[in-house]
This record gives sequence, C-alpha cells and structure tokens, in this order.
Amino acid sequence: MKVLVTGGTGFTGAALVDRLLREGHEVVALDKQPGLIDDELRRKGAKIVYGSVTDRDAVARSMEGAEVVMHLAAAFREIGVPDEVYRAVNVTGTRIVAEEALRAGVRKLVYCSTQGVHGHIENPPGDENSPIAPADYYQQTKYEGELELKVLDGTPVEYTIIRPTAIYGPGDPGRFVMIFRRVAKGVFPMFGSGRTFYHPVYIDNLVDAFLLAAQQGVGTGRAYIIGDAEYFSIEELVRRVAKAMGVPVRIPHYPIWPLLAAGHVCEKVCKPFGIEPPIFPRRVDWFRQVRAFRIDRARRELGYEPRVGIDEGLRRTAEWYRATGRVRFPDTSPLVPPKAA
Ligand SMILES: NC(=O)c1ccc[n+]([C@@H]2O[C@H](COP(=O)([O-])OP(=O)(O)OC[C@H]3O[C@@H](n4cnc5c(N)ncnc54)[C@H](OP(=O)(O)O)[C@@H]3O)[C@@H](O)[C@H]2O)c1
Repeated sequence: MKVLVTGGTGFTGAALVDRLLREGHEVVALDKQPGLIDDELRRKGAKIVYGSVTDRDAVARSMEGAEVVMHLAAAFREIGVPDEVYRAVNVTGTRIVAEEALRAGVRKLVYCSTQGVHGHIENPPGDENSPIAPADYYQQTKYEGELELKVLDGTPVEYTIIRPTAIYGPGDPGRFVMIFRRVAKGVFPMFGSGRTFYHPVYIDNLVDAFLLAAQQGVGTGRAYIIGDAEYFSIEELVRRVAKAMGVPVRIPHYPIWPLLAAGHVCEKVCKPFGIEPPIFPRRVDWFRQVRAFRIDRARRELGYEPRVGIDEGLRRTAEWYRATGRVRFPDTSPLVPPKAA
C-alpha cells in the first residue's frame, strides 16, 4: 500500500514511517524542513517531500497515488510563536489534508489528535466520552482539527481519529528527556503532591494503533484514546524512570502556585520577543493536569493491545538516551559501560 505520513520525520512520524517500510509499504513523508533523521529514512526507502501542510500544492504533490494518509504534522513543540501558527497548521492544515485526500481518492485518513482535547480529567479514568475541555491553545486547535474532518462525512474517504496519551520511547526529543535528566542528577523537585495521574504510551504501542486504524472499515468516523495499559502518579513515574536508569532519586516537594505564577510571567515577557521562556504554563501543567484513561474502546473496536509495558519501555528509552548522549548517566548506573582498562 502507498502511504503518506505528514510530519513523517518527527518523533512519532519517523517511528511510523520506519514500521510501514519494514512491513513492505511504499511511504512518502511530508515534513516542514530537513531534519537529522531524514537520510536514515531515505536509506530505508522513504521518499521525503518538504513543504507545509498549509501549502495545498505541497500536500497534493505528496499525496499522489496514496491509499492511506496518516496525518501527524502539527504545531506542537513550537514555543514563543503567535497563536495563529497553531491555528494555521493544526486547523487549516488538517482541512487542507482532508480536502486533498478526497480529491486524490485516498481510502483512509488517520488523524493524530491528542488526549489533551479532554484537558484535565475530573473523574479519572476518563474515556472518549469525557467532556471536551482543551486546557490550552494547542489542545484547542487539535480538537478543531478533528472537527475539520467532518468535511469527509458521507464521502468515500473513511477517517479515524487517534488521541494518543503522552508518547515516549527512543527518538523522543522532548518531555521525557527532561525527566531523565533530572533523575540523573539524583534529585527530582516535585511541585505539588506528585499524586497527579499521568498516562504514557510507548511509541511502538502507538504505532500498532495507527496500523490497526488504517484498515478499511475499521473505526470509521470514530475517535480512540490510545495509551499504555496502565497510568501512574507522576511521583511513581519518576521512581520508575530512576529504576530504569538504575540510579537512586530523592523527590522533595514544593508548592506549585509560585511556579505557575512564574510560568505566566515568563510566557508574557518572552512571547513578544519570540524567545522560548524557561518555564511556561503548559510545562507547569505536567504537575497538575490529571491524565488517566480507559482504552477499552480501542481494545474492542480496533483490536488494540499495548505490547510494551512501562518498565521495558523506560529501559529501552534510557538505553537510547545513553547511547545518543542525550542524558549523562551517573557512573553508578548499570547502563554506563565500564571504562576500558
Ligand atoms: N508527543 C506527545 O506526547 C503527543 C501526545 C499526543 C498527541 N501528539 C500528537 O502526535 C503528533 C506527532 O507528535 P510528535 O511528538 O511526534 O511531535 P514532533 O516530533 O514535533 O512531530 C511533528 C512533526 O510535524 C512537523 N510539522 C510541524 N509543522 C508542520 C507543517 N506546517 N507542515 C508539515 N509538517 C509540520 C514537524 O516538523 P519540524 O520538526 O520540521 O517542525 C515534526 O516533524 C502530533 O500531531 C501531536 O499533536 C503528541
């Protein structure tokens, strides 16, 4: 099958492209700009098209002959950019992808949304029927992106929405690397109680879900929360990371409100200058937004079953961070190879 993966050289996109190629599919990746992984993906057989999902011609060009489109491109990690960038990419870009999928005769569009469309879960665990309550502009625009797919209702193009929980694994440039780096220092400052729930999804488990959702007649017009089988308190997650790294960690607690206030101030001051603030409200939300879901619908309707559990997933992630030098492990960690005599 010929598949277009938008955002195909990002963290999740590259893992998906890699799996599709290994399963013998022909893959085109559309991405905004050249990145470090592009040559590796090309060597494995991917074709990479550079262009924005907001550029209709680029989308049409990359979609030629595609049977399936996996739409992952998103303004997500952009910090210090105007809100309109999020709207243009996540809403208008998704509409363009949907309209071009119809024009190109694509049979299935899988849209990567986010658990964040549900915001803070008041009564955990939540599910796809939990209130839609985006807590920030990113989450809001991801939800509006979901609504843009309605243009495909009643057309031959089937679509399925995936709402991943917090994605982690080898290749993750973002959130988890920060947890690992702090744990490596032996002290993890915990703002608030540490009892907030956090729901991870290991990258390979998520890729499984994308492949299941790509099947014809499966999950048409439906949204699915895709997470690992278990969720954890953030304090427990930090302890599991320490276990995976084989290092001790101390977790002192501090009140969260001063951090939140500082996040708002930093964002206000830095944004007009396009500077990345050291802390900002979305980052502070990690300590206070409850994320915990049932994945029963995906199990029932997609046949999804997370294969990699947290300890194995964190171990593989730790190994990747060590091997790529992204995290400096203390000499006491069993993951640090002994020095040659
Ligand atoms: N990571 C998570 O925990 C998480 C959780 C739930 C949902 N998601 C969703 O999962 C998807 C993948 O996220 P990720 O973690 O893999 O993030 P990522 O590494 O930032 O991947 C996003 C990719 O989209 C590309 N992109 C951004 N704007 C684009 C545009 N205008 N046109 C074409 N490509 C564009 C980025 O390119 P550049 O790098 O060149 O900018 C990047 O390669 C996103 O849809 C995100 O909303 C992520």
